[in-house]
Amino acid sequence: MVGFVDIHSHFLYDIDDGPKDIEGSISMLKEMKSEGISAVFSTSHFNIGEIKIEDFIKKRDERIASLKDVSKEIGIEIKKGAEVFISSLLPNLELLPSLALEGTNYILIELPYIQNYPNEYNNVISKIMRNFNLIPIIVHAERYNFFAKKPAILENLINMGCLVQITANTLLEKNFMFVDHLIKNNYTHFIATDSHNLQKRPPKIKEAISVSTLKHGEKKIKEMLKNQQDLLVGKQIPYSEPGKLTHLFGKYYI
Ligand SMILES: [Fe+2]
Repeated sequence: MVGFVDIHSHFLYDIDDGPKDIEGSISMLKEMKSEGISAVFSTSHFNIGEIKIEDFIKKRDERIASLKDVSKEIGIEIKKGAEVFISSLLPNLELLPSLALEGTNYILIELPYIQNYPNEYNNVISKIMRNFNLIPIIVHAERYNFFAKKPAILENLINMGCLVQITANTLLEKNFMFVDHLIKNNYTHFIATDSHNLQKRPPKIKEAISVSTLKHGEKKIKEMLKNQQDLLVGKQIPYSEPGKLTHLFGKYYI
């Protein structure tokens, strides 16, 4: 049976704010296995202002190679990827497709934690799509204040062709209303762990899935889990129209 496919995790060691050494990576892979995760995309942070893309790819691929045997033993498949911080330089970065989720034309895009969404991001995103035929997945959409204040920005990104990932642990946070509104109104396509370590940001997903299945019904949650499995085998995710997310009293509590 295919288990959960985690499309967002920082389990690779010594490359970003994930584990410092190989032992840390191995413990995370073991924990994933016990959570029922059978495949994981390695999506370490890539920020063009901090590292050359060639260096990032080399380091990432070396780390993955060093975990090849042990991941086989544990029984978890590792695929390549990256969490790419948005920059106006990305549309001209020739090697950008090497950061897409392996075997797909989907790429994780991270936005900054600022109050107002700069409209020029829409240009950057459409250029990335046009120049490389890539489909951006906006990561942890529930965490951005500008989406909570103005959900129409996210709705527009989805209508441009972007997909949306939410984070498993936020589904367990009491009063995190925004993430539930996103699911309810058809704004979400993937649930991932965004795990960094075993302590504060562990690769937990099981409980989040059962809690949100109770809240939102099996169909909705299963659809997202299936999308993740489809990415693993390189299938395209079909477009589905988002609802109209409106609110009465200012922004959602996030
Ligand atoms: Fe992340």
